[in-house]
Amino acid sequence: MSKPVYIAAYNQSKFGKLMAMTVPQIVRNAIESVCRQINVTPSAIDVGSIGAACNFSLNHQGLLSGLMAMTPGMESKPMEMVENACASGGQAILSVIQKLQLGWGDTGVALGYEKMRDNEGKMDGKLIGEVLGYFSFPDEREGKTFVFPHLFAEVMRDYMKEYGITEEQLAQIAVCEYGNAKYNPCAQMNKVQITLDQAMKIEGINKYIVDGLPLKTYDCSQITDGYAALILATEEGLKKLGVPKSDCVEIAGFAQASDPLKKEGRDVLRPAGAYKAMNKAYEMAGLKPKDVNVAEVHDCFTVMGALGTEVIGKAEPGKGAKYWADGKAAVDGECAINTSGGLIAKGHPVGATGVAMVGWSAQQLLGKAPQELQVKNPRAAATFNIGGPICASVCTVLKAAS
Ligand SMILES: CC(C)(COP(=O)(O)OP(=O)(O)OC[C@H]1O[C@@H](n2cnc3c(N)ncnc32)[C@H](O)[C@@H]1OP(=O)(O)O)[C@@H](O)C(=O)NCCC(=O)NCCS
Repeated sequence: MSKPVYIAAYNQSKFGKLMAMTVPQIVRNAIESVCRQINVTPSAIDVGSIGAACNFSLNHQGLLSGLMAMTPGMESKPMEMVENACASGGQAILSVIQKLQLGWGDTGVALGYEKMRDNEGKMDGKLIGEVLGYFSFPDEREGKTFVFPHLFAEVMRDYMKEYGITEEQLAQIAVCEYGNAKYNPCAQMNKVQITLDQAMKIEGINKYIVDGLPLKTYDCSQITDGYAALILATEEGLKKLGVPKSDCVEIAGFAQASDPLKKEGRDVLRPAGAYKAMNKAYEMAGLKPKDVNVAEVHDCFTVMGALGTEVIGKAEPGKGAKYWADGKAAVDGECAINTSGGLIAKGHPVGATGVAMVGWSAQQLLGKAPQELQVKNPRAAATFNIGGPICASVCTVLKAAS
């Protein structure tokens, strides 16, 4: 990479319910509150990008860059909205990096948001099932109510069969993540705790989502409102912002790859694009999986917590769940994975998720995570953000700036 790119600031809303906050208010808040972290005004930002996925279907709003430009100081700058399903946030980060590399500016804001609940904070699981279904191949969504839970219930079934893994082994990933979310004040489920018995027992809200398939409520990520934003800068940009490099994390490696949208006919248990993007990001950073001891992976369902552990190179295919069971993914483990609580317990405001993964990992590397979740001697971090049925992957490798 010609110019190193640094994370100068991060901010996110509490994930969960934004109640009556409108989309224009969300976008403006996201920009102004991340600027406040480093005492700059939006006029200090040269370029931007925003990721979202359900803005048309749920919020009836397009042209989000125009909303960014309504924030005083953000007028007339290179900005656009990007969409790659649940990888939209990661994609917004890449778009800002690309603009900085092109010399379109020295500083940029990458943000993501989703407003998935109504103004009373209520969610409609069936509606979400349908609108998220637009991010699947038409033939593969036919007859499915909760399209993504259904598609990933099939992935879970296939994963269990291929590697001889049990529902219980996957459920313990969720239990561990709820345990982390307890200490993350921004997590949607930070007041909810579950035991392995609860995660396994079909009782109350915990039900099989699709008859005949193993996925249960506690295997699923949340339906979430939230926003997250990062300020990225080149060395020149850091000087302009007045942020010392020692307060920053470098996005040392990054890559993206998209596989065919149709799930059938490709090896989703060993997703080619995801591995390719992750390996490229490691290569760019000059690091190997053994060098990272912090990671955030896209656990939209528990099976993805296991599979994500494999993609980042911490376990062989089929051994991801064991990595968690052995305590290696714990805060004090070999590589602390999803200390934020992950999508399952931190929440999953689709467009914000990729930004939040990178932002949280940066906080870890700077020693700014909540005390109970802070990894001792954090070395480097890997993030793995996906969109669709393991279709679009955005991967990054982060290290403290030197
Ligand atoms: C699992 C799921 C289908 C449940 O939807 P549902 O059956 O309509 O949910 P219910 O109406 O029965 O929910 C009742 C309560 O159960 C609980 N609940 C619902 N989903 C939950 C989840 N994923 N985890 C834990 N608790 C959950 C909540 O307390 C909810 O009450 P709330 O509305 O106050 O939050 C839904 O959460 C879902 O689709 N999750 C995945 C989202 C997704 O696909 N994201 C994209 C990934 S690629």
